[in-house]
Amino acid sequence: NQKIAILCSGGDVSGMNPALKRFVEYAYARNLQPYFVRNGYEGLIDNHIVPADYHDVAGIITRGGTKIGSARSLRFKEASYRAVAAENLRSHGIDRLIVLGGDGSFRGMERFYHETGIAFCGIPSTIDNDINGTDYCLGVDTALGVIKDAIDQIRDTASSFHRAFVIETMGRDCGYLTLISAITSGAELCLIPELPVDIDDFKGCFQSQIAKGRDYFIAVVSEALDSKKVAEWFEKELGFESRVSVLGHIQRGGNPSVYDRLMAFKFVTYAIDALLEGKNHSIICYNKSHFNFKTIDEVALHPYRLDEELLNLAREQFLPTRCQM
Ligand code: F6P
Repeated sequence: NQKIAILCSGGDVSGMNPALKRFVEYAYARNLQPYFVRNGYEGLIDNHIVPADYHDVAGIITRGGTKIGSARSLRFKEASYRAVAAENLRSHGIDRLIVLGGDGSFRGMERFYHETGIAFCGIPSTIDNDINGTDYCLGVDTALGVIKDAIDQIRDTASSFHRAFVIETMGRDCGYLTLISAITSGAELCLIPELPVDIDDFKGCFQSQIAKGRDYFIAVVSEALDSKKVAEWFEKELGFESRVSVLGHIQRGGNPSVYDRLMAFKFVTYAIDALLEGKNHSIICYNKSHFNFKTIDEVALHPYRLDEELLNLAREQFLPTRCQM
């Protein structure tokens, strides 16, 4: 049998376990022997590479995280360790890999491919949704669901206690999670790096809302910005008792949503097909409801930019000039 391996690299996402399940099942269906690499590129280097069987993936579809572990590997950036990794894969007879990760992971894999000829297909997986060239990364939908639940629950206490809540969301420098969450949870304020505003410009509008009866606020703020400062602003400028709620790593966990389970199923199916068809170093992307394959340059050469259509919607709702008195 020909052999194929899968690994998870970088921040884990809910959707990785459903992807592992599909990987094992579809690999067998295509007469391939599936292998797991534990803990990302670290496992390649340390030869934690094991054959995978149906029973390994039984029941994991409901679980967040990844059963085979993930890691951010500094060693894989060094040629000498990549050589060890290649040797380990060859010793198992594996010459094809599926990598669930972000653009940094794919860049490492591209280098590895050119050095060793070991083929790979990358599946964009990050809650940040900040990979160029794809509209969707695995795990985003589940993360948004977790954030939605958290904000809905914070609203319960915010409204009861008449406070301003500043809710900090993940995403590194990318405002995607923050923006979608602010829109879908009906926040009054959304602050993201892509849409710089002067918070003082909201003061008049918020004061007028308060005069008409508004007695609590929900602000959703990207982790790249200073949520503490925003809370201080509510205290100082509007006289509202405020709290900061940093959602943190709960955003990375949880029961994978239907959408992420389905996307995992499709991503993995098309990735295995692509490797069997001889696509040796590509990233599978999802654009306007279609899957397509892109080169590393198309996904990792330019920094990610938030979709212009989405940004326009954000401007429509969250610029101070749009604030509704
Ligand atoms: O990339 C995913 C992510 O969860 C980011 O949103 C966040 O900034 C980062 O990873 C947190 O990393 P760590 O798990 O190392 O704290």
